[in-house]
Amino acid sequence: MTDLSTTAEPARFAMYGQEFADDPQRVYAQMRAHGDLAPVELSPGVPATLVLGYDAALEIMRDPDRFPRCSEVWEQEVGPECPVLPMMMTRPNALFTNGAVHARLRSAIVDSLARVEPALLREYVADGANSLIDGFADDGRADLIGQYARTLPLLVFNEMFGCPRDIGDKLVRGMSAIFDTVDAEEGNALLGEATLELVAHKRQKPGADVTSWMLRHPAGLDDVEMTHQITLLVGAGTEPEQNLIANGILLLLSDGRFGGDLSGGSLPVEDALDEILWTDPPMANYATTFPRQDTDFHGYRLPAHQPVLISYAAANTDPSRSAANRTGNRAHLSFSGGPHTCPAKNHARLIASVAMETLLDRLPDLELAVPADDLEWRPGPFHRALTALPVAFPPAAVR
Ligand code: HEM
Repeated sequence: MTDLSTTAEPARFAMYGQEFADDPQRVYAQMRAHGDLAPVELSPGVPATLVLGYDAALEIMRDPDRFPRCSEVWEQEVGPECPVLPMMMTRPNALFTNGAVHARLRSAIVDSLARVEPALLREYVADGANSLIDGFADDGRADLIGQYARTLPLLVFNEMFGCPRDIGDKLVRGMSAIFDTVDAEEGNALLGEATLELVAHKRQKPGADVTSWMLRHPAGLDDVEMTHQITLLVGAGTEPEQNLIANGILLLLSDGRFGGDLSGGSLPVEDALDEILWTDPPMANYATTFPRQDTDFHGYRLPAHQPVLISYAAANTDPSRSAANRTGNRAHLSFSGGPHTCPAKNHARLIASVAMETLLDRLPDLELAVPADDLEWRPGPFHRALTALPVAFPPAAVR
């Protein structure tokens, strides 16, 4: 039995800092020397266990009784300054709740998202994409993170959730301030105001949108519950979506298997998305759970109240599973598994593929403005995210 409670022995792998961000698959390969689970540090002095094996990951995600969302004891231990606290602390939303409470909150989300017409969603994405591309088409160069992938999911969110322009603008400004880390406090305040205003507005003036459907759902969410779920949906629907779009475009532009056929229809885009979701998922490590007592699992002793995270990125590339035939095969874990599986995986994929197709349609001769190896990845244990994606192209007409 390997006891994973000791921080010194075996040594812990650092999941913070530039070294991990630059080449996470190299670090996962080293971690695999420990087997299916490895001792890690999420930030200096914050120990956790990372699950690398595909079967072990599925088993944990499907067993919320032994592996619940239950961070309260851990939060007391790490204190309010802990840098990973905002991503892991409990909040009254679907992501951080268990059992019947989770099922009720999630039902309002799942049922309302299911009412979004794919054809309409496609239109929202294409409209948002075209207006963003108009902003840089005749420049001949752009940063596809700052000028495209970051804003597009927010524009789509505004349409899906029936956000009037003034509230939507506030939401975009709030999220941008948080992402840019220029003023996270101001960003949070703007985001809080915008979600409150959206819920109040939709109570008064319901429409054919996800917010109104959630408000009228039989689960009967009150205004406080609604604002928490809307905040979750904005956060969950923007940062990972941005990175799915950007990582997908990077693959298309940098990998010979896709290049040369960029404007040849939608197949390369769908193939690139499959590949990214298997090998370089935008949420790389998450699904954090906290065993309530010391728990024996696959020959390891997991200490009570210490975080256990699933590495979707490592589990997908588990060498004990065949890497053949991944194209068109969606058995990857990049949208998680078990009761907290992403409820928007079809929306997420559709948004990313229309975002990529529209860009390639408008700018077919797009290429990277710097060698792929010179691109910078943002440090952090959870995401797989570029800081910028500079591209060049022959200037094109604004519509
Ligand atoms: C339209 C865009 C999206 C929306 C609205 C959305 C929404 C959500 C919500 C509400 C949850 C929590 C579900 C629950 O706990 O029951 C969730 C979970 C999750 N989503 Fe998404 N999501 C979106 C896009 C994405 C993308 C692009 C990815 C990355 C491939 C992703 C990966 C995940 C994962 C891994 C989880 C599980 C997290 C965990 O178990 O801790 N999502 N999503």
